Amino acid sequence: MKKHNRREFLKLTGLAMAGSVVPLSACSASEGAMVASAAATGTAVSPDYTLKVGLVGCGGRGTGAANQALSADPNVELTALGDLFPDQIERSVEQLTHRHADKINVPEERRFSGFDNYQKVIDSGVDVVLLAAPPAFRPAHLEYAVDAGVHIFCEKPVAVDAPGIRKILDAVKRSKEKDLSIVSGFCWRYHNAKRAFFGQINDGALGEIRTVYNTYLTGSLWFRDRQPDWSDQQYQLRNWLYYNWISGDHIVEQAVHSVDFMSWAMGDEMPVSVIGTGGRQVRTDARFGNIYDHFAITYEYANGAKGFHFSRQQPNCENSYKAEVFGSEGIGRALASGIEYSINGSNPWEYDGPINDMYQTQHDELFESIRNGRPVNDGELMANSTMLAIMGRMAAYTGRRVTWEDAMNSTKKLGPDHPDWDNIPDATALEVAMPGVTRFT
Ligand SMILES: NC(=O)c1ccc[n+]([C@@H]2O[C@H](COP(=O)([O-])OP(=O)(O)OC[C@H]3O[C@@H](n4cnc5c(N)ncnc54)[C@H](O)[C@@H]3O)[C@@H](O)[C@H]2O)c1
Repeated sequence: MKKHNRREFLKLTGLAMAGSVVPLSACSASEGAMVASAAATGTAVSPDYTLKVGLVGCGGRGTGAANQALSADPNVELTALGDLFPDQIERSVEQLTHRHADKINVPEERRFSGFDNYQKVIDSGVDVVLLAAPPAFRPAHLEYAVDAGVHIFCEKPVAVDAPGIRKILDAVKRSKEKDLSIVSGFCWRYHNAKRAFFGQINDGALGEIRTVYNTYLTGSLWFRDRQPDWSDQQYQLRNWLYYNWISGDHIVEQAVHSVDFMSWAMGDEMPVSVIGTGGRQVRTDARFGNIYDHFAITYEYANGAKGFHFSRQQPNCENSYKAEVFGSEGIGRALASGIEYSINGSNPWEYDGPINDMYQTQHDELFESIRNGRPVNDGELMANSTMLAIMGRMAAYTGRRVTWEDAMNSTKKLGPDHPDWDNIPDATALEVAMPGVTRFT
């Protein structure tokens, strides 16, 4: 039977009037089911209508995002959860129940494990889905959500390779045609002080931007010890950070935030080319899979400006998370964490406003956009910033200059097309990239 989406339903019933508030709660149960795969898109949604939220990827960030989603609007409930592993779902439900007991409506039959969990979550009739599985899965998850016509919170990064980015961009195009909201997990874009700082720069306070120096220098990350009942495949997926086909390597998985800083300062114009280096000095044990532990990348822009990116995951070293922006009229400094957001030069400026919880603001703005029928769509931004980090990794892995065009047209897929238990790559056979030997494809 054809399932009508919300838009089709409105057309059928003649309710689709610009700016109208649709009292979805007035729908009969069967009408509710018919439109359940999408709360109104491009049309305001009545505050009486309970927005149903699904979560895909019930780890630390996914559980956090669900907490924020449930806090963002008085009339939302969590109705479905999906993860590869049932224990992750149970842990997430337990944590969320502490905070939002009255908003958790997830009976056993709406807790989905296995690789097809996302399809089941989305098909269960949610209005909004939170996509927080590891990055390799995001393109398929986002594509399915867009095609189902649900609003989306999409964690960063959004892919691990260029074919994944192209899939994201195609889906983003369709999401706009459907008036869907997509709020990305590039959370720094939702931070008051950073918005004000980069707003000053984009408005010309530093004149012409010549250089952006940005860092994500941090220590070692978590590791999940092998349990006796874990298969090799399960072990790999539990420790997904360390396998580049799942995480994209740490420049893509984590340092992408700082690369995004650089892009913001450059007005989100994409560079012409990139050159870089990287490797693994302390992360040599087999348990660290095949990712690097440091990158140093130079982004080259059409006007001669350069972006210098440094990222490192090595313990007992100096940490740094910041952007310094050098323009013809002065220098701007933003610390990723901390309180310094300042501009020195012809147009001195310092941020002295309130500091918000950016994770909460993301969801406040997502749910507000759904309620008022005015979609927010971070789709291209999240694809471009992710691609910048992928491009840096490509340059470091191969040792060659990579143009934006080359990177976007790359056919290199890091993992299987449709990951499942029977095609997970053998971890011992995964190569650590070797500059000058690893070929660009
Ligand atoms: N924006 C931020 O500040 C921020 C912070 C942390 C993490 N993240 C991002 O959030 C995502 C998740 O990171 P995390 O820290 O929550 O990791 P995590 O390991 O705590 O959680 C990932 C969860 O996804 C599950 N999973 C694995 N494969 C899956 C699949 N195919 N389908 C559904 N679930 C699957 C895992 O079992 C796990 O429960 C990553 O993309 C990460 O980069 C963003």
